[in-house]
Amino acid sequence: MRKILLPAAAVLALITGCKGVESMEELTDRVFKVAAAQYVQMDGRLSGTNLPRTVSPEGEFVTSNIRWWCSGFYPGSLWYIYEYTADPQFKDLARKNTLKLDSLLFRKTDHDLGFQMNCSYGNAYRLTGDEEYVDRIVSTARKLAARYSPVTGVIRSWDSVRKGRDWKYPVIIDNMMNLEHLYNAAIISGEDSLKAVAKAHANTTMANHFRPDYTSWHLVDYDPETGEVRHKETVQGLNNESAWARGQAWALYGFTMMYRVSGEQAYLDQACGIADMLVSRLPEDGIPYWDFDSRKIPDDYRDASAGAIMSSAFVQLSSLVNDRNSAAKYRKMAEKQLRTLAGPDYLAAPGENCNFLLRHSVGSLPDNSEVDVPLTYADYYFLEALLKYRELK
Ligand code: GLY
Repeated sequence: MRKILLPAAAVLALITGCKGVESMEELTDRVFKVAAAQYVQMDGRLSGTNLPRTVSPEGEFVTSNIRWWCSGFYPGSLWYIYEYTADPQFKDLARKNTLKLDSLLFRKTDHDLGFQMNCSYGNAYRLTGDEEYVDRIVSTARKLAARYSPVTGVIRSWDSVRKGRDWKYPVIIDNMMNLEHLYNAAIISGEDSLKAVAKAHANTTMANHFRPDYTSWHLVDYDPETGEVRHKETVQGLNNESAWARGQAWALYGFTMMYRVSGEQAYLDQACGIADMLVSRLPEDGIPYWDFDSRKIPDDYRDASAGAIMSSAFVQLSSLVNDRNSAAKYRKMAEKQLRTLAGPDYLAAPGENCNFLLRHSVGSLPDNSEVDVPLTYADYYFLEALLKYRELK
């Protein structure tokens, strides 16, 4: 009998029910349609200057005030939806929710100003070029930089010391994310001192926050008088020596971003070291469990937020490395993570999930806070990753 040879595309069509594998363009379009529907409805849930935070164990929509470290993510996601759709409705919604953060300028101290202001005001200025956003960007960057000490060589994170903890000058890996705000403000204002603070913080973090295998501690405590490291901990992870998933995500993103903005080779090397460690440890579908060292894996919580942050960093890193094999490896991981997040296990249908996009993130498991819930930053970095993926050649 004669063999019937089918072209590869036809075989694929048969396997996938005649529709073929969804392209990344189609996937991105599908996700942004969901995002547009969900985020318009979400705005209707908000009053005053409140912003979305999560969903309670009882299934109720939970808001935050503007001081919560995540207050910039909802406006930021609205800016990303505007960037994708060019729909003026989203420009208006994004602006309205961005301006809610206006009075953060008057807060005396806040190490999260980068998260808050860069995602909201930073994107607003990037997309509109409107001068109305400039003053808030530059003023808050100066306030953030004022938390830097030349003795420790880092920006201080938390001011309050938790009960039972012996901290004098705690610095968390998350703080790498705030450095982009300093760079953007420096470019806008011409104040190179802001860049110098960002680089110093990144250099000190690179020296002290990492283990030889490129995993990172969550917190390093410094002596503010001498700059000596006092101790290293992992407050939001399984134990001090574990690899808390979101901490690893902040580290990958932070050093990738620092290489993009500064061109310093040491940051690229650090980012690739972290990336290779992650590629070797991530589960088959690319979405990490909340802590890489959990002994309950595979019966433990995933953290979609860490997966989303990593995916954005992997996309970016794949566009920055010269080595083609590494570029392909990082891009492949990003695509895998994005396809998983855009699948039915994570992406909610319009009207569900209190209008958040992604399910299954973990805020702080040791504090029994925000466990297996939607979180604004998971949505934000997911949308960002898809927009960045679209720009890849
Ligand atoms: N910056 C806080 C967190 O990642 O939970």
